[in-house]
Amino acid sequence: MRSVELTVNGVAVVEAVEPRLHLADLLRERLGLTGTHLRCEQGACGACTLLIDGEPARACITYAVLCEGAQITTIEGLEDDPIMVALRRAFTAEHGLQCGFCTPGMLITARDIVRRLPGADERRIRLELSGNLCRCTGYVGIVRAIRRVLQEVRSGALAAAASERRKLGPVGSGRAGPAPGGLSVSPAAAAGGDKRGAIADADLGLAGRKPNIEIHQSLVIARPQAEVWTFLGDVERVVPCMPGATLSAVRGDRLQGGLAIKLGPIVAAFDGEARVVRDDAMQRGMILGAGRDRLGASRASGELEYRLSAVQGGAATRLDITVRALLLGPLAQFGRSAIVTDLAARISEVFARNLERRLAGLPDATQQKAIPAASLLGAVIAERIKNALARLLEKFRR
Ligand code: FES
Ligand code: FES
Repeated sequence: MRSVELTVNGVAVVEAVEPRLHLADLLRERLGLTGTHLRCEQGACGACTLLIDGEPARACITYAVLCEGAQITTIEGLEDDPIMVALRRAFTAEHGLQCGFCTPGMLITARDIVRRLPGADERRIRLELSGNLCRCTGYVGIVRAIRRVLQEVRSGALAAAASERRKLGPVGSGRAGPAPGGLSVSPAAAAGGDKRGAIADADLGLAGRKPNIEIHQSLVIARPQAEVWTFLGDVERVVPCMPGATLSAVRGDRLQGGLAIKLGPIVAAFDGEARVVRDDAMQRGMILGAGRDRLGASRASGELEYRLSAVQGGAATRLDITVRALLLGPLAQFGRSAIVTDLAARISEVFARNLERRLAGLPDATQQKAIPAASLLGAVIAERIKNALARLLEKFRR
């Protein structure tokens, strides 16, 4: 159990919660705020949409512990909000209510549209509503109701404070305290005295925590072992070989940098630090790292171990890599999938290709500094579909 302090509809709340309790269950089961509905519990239908620090978010895929310090506003907390009053009136007038199950989420999304996109036409409204599913399929009345309120805003009859947000994307309080297995800031760093970095040494790597991702990879690089070993010691040349990775600072054995990931609708930009340990005699090394997503609430810490050995009579080098990581927050749902392993294999392939080309003094194979994981994910899924079809055809042939 962990204690979490947050503000719900203007009221300070302190609750002891299990790390896996999601925000919607906390609101519904503990606080009796049943206006936040639950349907898919996978972030797909929008029934549980509420506001976290003023931005719409899915309560069913938001861990309560990650809302430390956040301002949560549910449909109950928007009772007197002028835009919500206008929307409720318009939903009634335009028959935007059928069974009402999707309505709280619809209203919160509709309020966001009114504040963020006052000039939205019907097409844009439908696009913006695509993350909120109505099982009664009565979108016509809902869209008409939103258009009616937008018209009131444009005519000056309704004042709607403009939202500064222009882009959709993951939201979160951004103020979450350390989650179980999460990161903490070293006291010296917090005081500005630690020039090595903002993450305490003890929080780099797993530090005894159980990983939820474990990947083993072996690559063969068509260069001699000594060359590969020297190259791997030069982080400023190695990091750009990794799709999505950037290096912002190197201080002794400490690195600071980022990793950008796009997996379908989820976009993450991890900022983190790592410590590099190398054993020249054994030709092996270890990278202990930790980071947090500056766009959402995901956190990661982990260890990458690598070992070199000569193959093909010394003409090539085998690089064995083991990654053990603990991923927390919205992206953790991908940790359970075999797709992560396939994706890692694809990323490793690109990494090995880039590494070989850099060793040969050639530009990266992709001509890009970073490759969106989404394109790799597409390739992974395409490969899986191809394999499934091949298996099916094989069955028919028998
Ligand atoms: S219940 Fe949260 S998105 Fe469906
Ligand atoms: S009104 Fe019934 S689910 Fe939308």
